[in-house]
Amino acid sequence: MKKSCVLVCGGAGYIGSHTTVELINAGYDVVIADNFSNSDMGAVEGVRKITGVDIPFVEVDCCDLEAFRKVFEQYEFDSVIHFAASKAVGESVEKPMLYYRNNLLSLMNMIDLMREFGRHNIVFSSSCTVYGEPDKQPVTEQTPRKPATSPYGNTKQMSEDILRDAVAATEGLKGIALRYFNPIGAHPSALIGELPRGVPQNLVPYITQTAAGIRECLSVFGDDYPTPDGSCIRDYIDVVDLAKAHVAAIGRMVENRNDENYEIFNVGTGRGVSVLELVNRFREVNGVELPCKIAPRREGDIIAIWADPTRANTVLGWKAGRTLDETLAAAWAWEKHVRGIE
Ligand code: WQD
Repeated sequence: MKKSCVLVCGGAGYIGSHTTVELINAGYDVVIADNFSNSDMGAVEGVRKITGVDIPFVEVDCCDLEAFRKVFEQYEFDSVIHFAASKAVGESVEKPMLYYRNNLLSLMNMIDLMREFGRHNIVFSSSCTVYGEPDKQPVTEQTPRKPATSPYGNTKQMSEDILRDAVAATEGLKGIALRYFNPIGAHPSALIGELPRGVPQNLVPYITQTAAGIRECLSVFGDDYPTPDGSCIRDYIDVVDLAKAHVAAIGRMVENRNDENYEIFNVGTGRGVSVLELVNRFREVNGVELPCKIAPRREGDIIAIWADPTRANTVLGWKAGRTLDETLAAAWAWEKHVRGIE
């Protein structure tokens, strides 16, 4: 039997494209919507190639309510996944209004249209950034949120609250917020992956671009933190595993297995890895040179955070499966594919 249809907003983006592949693999129909603000048609083509399905695509800005309404008029999806947001922490400090407008308006338009058209299920992309610098590791969904340290982080906290309140006030509306830890890696086909515009802000794209010779040297931001090797610790989650968490979340709502109408899950591996450990694993797994120097701390960085993913493991029936080595090999395979390196 054909499963229901899912609208994936931001489906040409990094996590959106991988999630579309996994939804198709799980038997869902998908409609991709994207405004290409930080992506291009290449990702949609990659997804079509991997799946062998000519997935419908609409170019639309979710902030444009009238244009967005046409997508709801045209397609019969019952569930949506909302990836369409801006995500650069530093940029959000420079351009707060852009972040509040993009990230909040697109979500509010989505919820309004879901209410208007009677569409039921929404998965929202939240972030471990909502925890700030936690007092205790690992963090569970009950760990208190700390005040956000950037407009980006603030939009994630506010969006969670908007969704929670809208669900509480709307008969038939269900929502799941997935708090992603640090998504890295790429599809094993190397046909889709992360493609940052300009100088990468995130660690793994900077590593792969340095290994590819595009950047001269990786700066490790700080080796004097109170951690075993002095560098920061994160929970790096493979993007294909992360994509599968969305399929599990949609399935839970579509099949009415949810306990509450609004639920939150941490999506991480449960393992903390330091920057220096990650750098060394990358070198070892891929057998490449990676010029690297210690640089001053980056302002605003959290010292350490990793997930307690027990709730996602037991309640959502999802668990991270790929090893860090597999993920770092996939990240490098993707960079080589993009740069035409043998
Ligand atoms: C990881 C570690 C850096 C670059 C942020 C957001 C989060 C998520 C991802 C959405 C840190 C260190 C990095 C470099 C380095 N959002 N680093 N040299 O800061 O954990 O998370 O981005 O997309 O919500 O908060 O991720 O990859 O930037 O950094 O040493 O050139 O790598 O200091 O310790 P972060 P990151």
